[in-house]
Amino acid sequence: MEKHGHLPPPASTAHTAPGPRRGWVALRVALCALLAMMATFATLFLPTWETPDAQTPDAAHCPVQPAPLHPPTTISWTNASRAESLDLFSAAVRIPTQSYDDNGEPDEDPRWAPFYDFIDWLEDAFPVAWQAANVEIINSLGILATFQGSDESLKPLLLMSHYDVVPVPEDTFDRWTHGPFSGDLADGWVWGRGTADDKSLLVSQWEAMTHLLSSGWKPRRTVILTHGFDEEEVHARRGQGQIAPFLEDRYGHNGLLMVVDEGSGIADDLYGTAFALVGTGEKGYLDIVMRVGTDGGHSSVPPPHTGIGIMSQLVNALEKHPFETKLTPHSPLLQGLACVAKAKDAPNKWKKLLRGPKGWTKLAHAFANGGALQRALVRTTTAVDVIRGGVKVNALPELVEASVNFRIDFSESLASTKERVAKIAAKVAKKNGLEFRAWSGEGDPPSGRFVTLEVLGVPLEPAPNTPTSGGVWDLFAGTVRAAMGEELVVAPFATTGNTDCKMYYNLTRNVFRFMAASMDTIVNVHTVDERMKATEHHRTVEWIHALIQNADAYDGAQ
Ligand SMILES: *[C@@H]1O[C@H](CO)[C@@H](O)[C@H](O)[C@H]1NC(C)=O
Ligand SMILES: *[C@@H]1O[C@H](CO)[C@@H](O)[C@H](O)[C@H]1NC(C)=O
Ligand SMILES: [Zn+2]
Repeated sequence: MEKHGHLPPPASTAHTAPGPRRGWVALRVALCALLAMMATFATLFLPTWETPDAQTPDAAHCPVQPAPLHPPTTISWTNASRAESLDLFSAAVRIPTQSYDDNGEPDEDPRWAPFYDFIDWLEDAFPVAWQAANVEIINSLGILATFQGSDESLKPLLLMSHYDVVPVPEDTFDRWTHGPFSGDLADGWVWGRGTADDKSLLVSQWEAMTHLLSSGWKPRRTVILTHGFDEEEVHARRGQGQIAPFLEDRYGHNGLLMVVDEGSGIADDLYGTAFALVGTGEKGYLDIVMRVGTDGGHSSVPPPHTGIGIMSQLVNALEKHPFETKLTPHSPLLQGLACVAKAKDAPNKWKKLLRGPKGWTKLAHAFANGGALQRALVRTTTAVDVIRGGVKVNALPELVEASVNFRIDFSESLASTKERVAKIAAKVAKKNGLEFRAWSGEGDPPSGRFVTLEVLGVPLEPAPNTPTSGGVWDLFAGTVRAAMGEELVVAPFATTGNTDCKMYYNLTRNVFRFMAASMDTIVNVHTVDERMKATEHHRTVEWIHALIQNADAYDGAQ
């Protein structure tokens, strides 16, 4: 999951209202990797990227709020069943499914052992649902559970979650109030790594299915649960990366009704109003390696700039010329801010700014002033993360490399990002009299004096936006309002990270990144004392329970 900060008014009156700030601060801590003003470099302005959605002022409207859609049945909790629910949640947290970036293959690396334990536990903990499902294990540890519906003409509902967690560094163990894998229930919280990200959601999915099946309910629409095991690693190629194409083979392109994955949640108080923030878009992802080749030689007779000096110029040029800050109809945040603008205590100026593209840009800049997390939501970010070069202090470096990570804005693309970076790098190369080459592949590196750019790993375009009108939106948002609170305004939101659902864009446009919990009750994601309010776990079960039934009854457009 990834992250997000507080929302300032566009004018200089920021930091006045403690109430509204609370919401955005909670967002910052709550959104995991499930859940960012400077001068623009005028000479680098790119053409606007044309996509089917035109820049119409109409785009800045809060989606129509459907009436609450009440499911046929709700869970009648008893004290005992609430306790049992928390016991299941705690038990899941106690299995230390930590995933490391450098893990080997599942059948080779012993660090995967707890993952096999987790699958065994799941089978034992949810016998009713496990037996009703066709459970398939994909690529050793990917879990795919299909609850076959009676009507095959209905596209399946797919609910996702992951069962790996971010590793807990051993030197932080003693800083935890309750052990990181204790799953302790104390002071109304469930404590431990994975409580907030993402085991509450996973356990809720199995609990909700169990409640329904135990009551004699039988699915008309197929329900699918999938659980990845490498979400907390950048590319997630082993888990959902294998399950998604498998499901595309089975159900075909656009073969699912809806995909619901981890994401944002309920903001109880944004400018005096309660919102359900739903991730309906996600930024793109690109890693680029920059290489500078220069003549070697003795450092007693150096040129004015060594390879390291030239790389410094490149890094400096990138940081000095950040991508444009903007808010366009390509960003889910434009509709989201239109919703927030309707809040009781929202800054008056917002409504005026939302009227047209000029105002959107002003609003984007004001929003970006709220800190790095908000800035990241209104532009492509640049982070130079790795640098290598030089071997000896008396020898000139012949090859210097730096890797840069870009999270691509909704209105941009891999192509536009690469084009802009290449323009910046080409200028630096020219100034230093070096050959410049971009995107020519890893084949033959030029010899001698050069600057090159190459793409690393697997890049990702910004996600296609989830439609925020029509039958499936009404189904989703109506269920949120019925299960989580009729007063909620369901608002589109954007995520800066890339959750596992990136693998499913071929299977449906209706991707919702949403966890039903209030974001004030999900604390310390990815850090010491991660915990979740016990009552919010029960609410999450209720939400899934409602969604499955409503999707089952849904007869609208698929
Ligand atoms: C359920 O728990 C609440 C709070 O702990 C308590 O007040 C209530 O008496 C319990 N109800 C039953 C039926 O045990
Ligand atoms: C989506 O479909 C395209 C075209 O068939 C394919 O190339 C791509 O790999 C698919 N994406 C995923 C994530 O499976
Ligand atoms: Zn997560």
